[in-house]
Amino acid sequence: MSAKIARRIVVFTGAGISAESGLSTFRDPEGIWARYRIEEVATPEAWHRNPQLVLDFYNARRRQLLQVMPNAAHYALVGLEEFFEDVHIITQNVDDLHERAGSMRVLHLHGELRKVRSTRYPELVYPWDDDLHLGDCCERGHQLRPHVVWFGEEVPLLPQAAELTRQADAFVVVGTSLAVYPAASLAYYASQEIPCYYVDPNPQTNWEMQRLKNLKILAKPATEGVSIVVEELKRLFHP
Ligand code: APR
Repeated sequence: MSAKIARRIVVFTGAGISAESGLSTFRDPEGIWARYRIEEVATPEAWHRNPQLVLDFYNARRRQLLQVMPNAAHYALVGLEEFFEDVHIITQNVDDLHERAGSMRVLHLHGELRKVRSTRYPELVYPWDDDLHLGDCCERGHQLRPHVVWFGEEVPLLPQAAELTRQADAFVVVGTSLAVYPAASLAYYASQEIPCYYVDPNPQTNWEMQRLKNLKILAKPATEGVSIVVEELKRLFHP
C-alpha cells in the first residue's frame, strides 16, 4: 500500500452523526430536550436533588446505545485513516459509535455513556454496560455516577481538543447545532486558511465558524455528506 499523506484532519462531531443510527439528537423538534428538562437530568443540582431520575435517564440511553450500530458516516470517517496519517475525531457524543466503527483516535469532550466514575475520586473510571443503581460504589466505597459532563461542569478535555485543532490541516464539522459552549467554540482554534467543511441538514454556523475563510457547507444528512467530504479531502491533499 502507498504511504499515507502526512496531514492532520480534525473532525468535530455532534449528535447528528448518530441520528441515522437511531439515536435522537437533542435540539431537533423530536429531540431529547423536547422530552426531558435539562435541569432535571443533566446538571449537578439534578444529581443532588433526585439522583434516581438522573440514573433512569442515563440508564435508558445506555440501553438504547447497546442496541444501535454505527452508520455509513462513522465508517466513512474511518476510511480517512487509510489515506491520512493523523486523523482525530473530537466528539460531543457520549455514544461509542466512532470507536465501534473503527476510528483509532477519538476524544470525547462530553464523556462516555459506557463508563461510570466515582463521585468522590473522579480518576476512578470504570467500563459499565449495565444499569447504574444507587448503591453501586467505586472500590473505595463511594457512589458511582455517569461519566458524562453535565451542564455547569468543566469540560476537562477542551484544552487538548483546542490544541489538536490548532495543528489541523483540515477541519470537518458534522451534525451539531453549535449551541453548547465551550465545545461550540472549537472552530476558533482552527487556522482561518485551512479547508473546512460543515455537514448538517440544518446548518447553524456560529461566529467561530464564520471566521473560517474556506468553509464549505453541505446541507445534507451525515450519511450522504461525510463521504463527499472524505473524497474532497483525498483529492485536495493528493500528493
Ligand atoms: N445528519 C447530520 N446532522 C443531523 C442529522 C443527520 N442525519 N439529523 C440532525 N442533524 C443535525 C441537526 O440539524 C442539528 O444541527 O444534528 C444537530 C444536532 O444538534 P443538537 O441536538 O443540538 O446536538 P449537539 O450539537 O451534538 O449538542 C451538543 O448538547 O445537550 C448537550 O451534551 C449534549 O453533546 C451535546 C451538546
